[in-house]
Amino acid sequence: MLTFEDNDIAAPAVPANPTATAMPNRVNAVDKRIINGKTDVNQLVPFKHKWAWEKYLAQCANHWMPQEVNMQRDIEQWKTGQLSEDEMRIVKRNLGFFVTADSLAANNIVLGTYRQITSPECRQFLLRQAFDEAIHTHAYQYIVESLGLDEGEIFNAYNEIASIRDKDEFLIPFIDALCNPAFKTGTLETDQQLLKSLIVFACIMEGLFFYVGFVQILALGRQNKMTGAAEQYQYILRDESMHCNFGIDLINTIKLENPELWTDSFKASLDELFRKAVDLEYAYAEDTMPRGVLGLNAPQFKEYLRFICNRRMQQIGLTELFPGASNPFPWMSEMIDLKKEKNFFETRVTEYQTGGALNWD
Ligand SMILES: [Fe+2]
Ligand SMILES: [Fe+2]
Repeated sequence: MLTFEDNDIAAPAVPANPTATAMPNRVNAVDKRIINGKTDVNQLVPFKHKWAWEKYLAQCANHWMPQEVNMQRDIEQWKTGQLSEDEMRIVKRNLGFFVTADSLAANNIVLGTYRQITSPECRQFLLRQAFDEAIHTHAYQYIVESLGLDEGEIFNAYNEIASIRDKDEFLIPFIDALCNPAFKTGTLETDQQLLKSLIVFACIMEGLFFYVGFVQILALGRQNKMTGAAEQYQYILRDESMHCNFGIDLINTIKLENPELWTDSFKASLDELFRKAVDLEYAYAEDTMPRGVLGLNAPQFKEYLRFICNRRMQQIGLTELFPGASNPFPWMSEMIDLKKEKNFFETRVTEYQTGGALNWD
């Protein structure tokens, strides 16, 4: 059997399908596992985790590139003083968080998660997701360059701005744990460690820490300000909600395949993390909006973050921490669901359409 060094798990010691004596190395779908699988990771089919393949196809159909978005109006607005100090602060803080966040996300996938995942259809999605993260970093860089911002100030913000640094300091230990070359699943402890990092990544980073920023920039766009940046964010939001949903399916399937991991003490440790994450994201909201701006204010975000946190927890089978929290920004679900007839901000450069054009009819 053709194998490559793959975390020492690619080569089965015994045939994957013991009944197929004539073809001893053929993969049996029922033997496939998301983690600690013994089947050949180089054979995409037969599918077991078909949802991952379907999300991969959907994500390819969503393909877009930052240069497709016209930034001319944003540049004019930015350079001719059409934005208030508070609005400019929001844009700079936003970029300050996101320009490095998606690099952290990409590193987490490529250097950490990928090698632990033994389902080739899940790996296929992760490969696409890694490319998406490169596109997102590109998009943020493109906005920074278009507006002529100080690159050093924006790209180093995660070291200089406390509300950004605190979020990243929360995330980085979970990324580092997986990126450690010695890390390997296969024990209760390391399997739980992987599962916890996946939950932090999908439900807290992509599913919660991005949302104050998304709301703020999309709120600017809804007021006809920075519509190019807002369109970029709208594409990114679409990608991130797919990443988050993939992560949730991944987490729930690992739970199904490894029920022993979901202990009471493990769940309690997750509750702690969600509570801490809501506090950190709220501190970020307060720092980015010292006063009300764009019809938004920090206290609305407390309710919004509690609402999102409840949803993420329910999605992975945890009891919600904030019963009764409601959504103060119902227009955001419209942005996420993308059931619109046409591009919301109408900033596309040309009429040509890639598979990913925001043209949902
Ligand atoms: Fe991203
Ligand atoms: Fe992502």
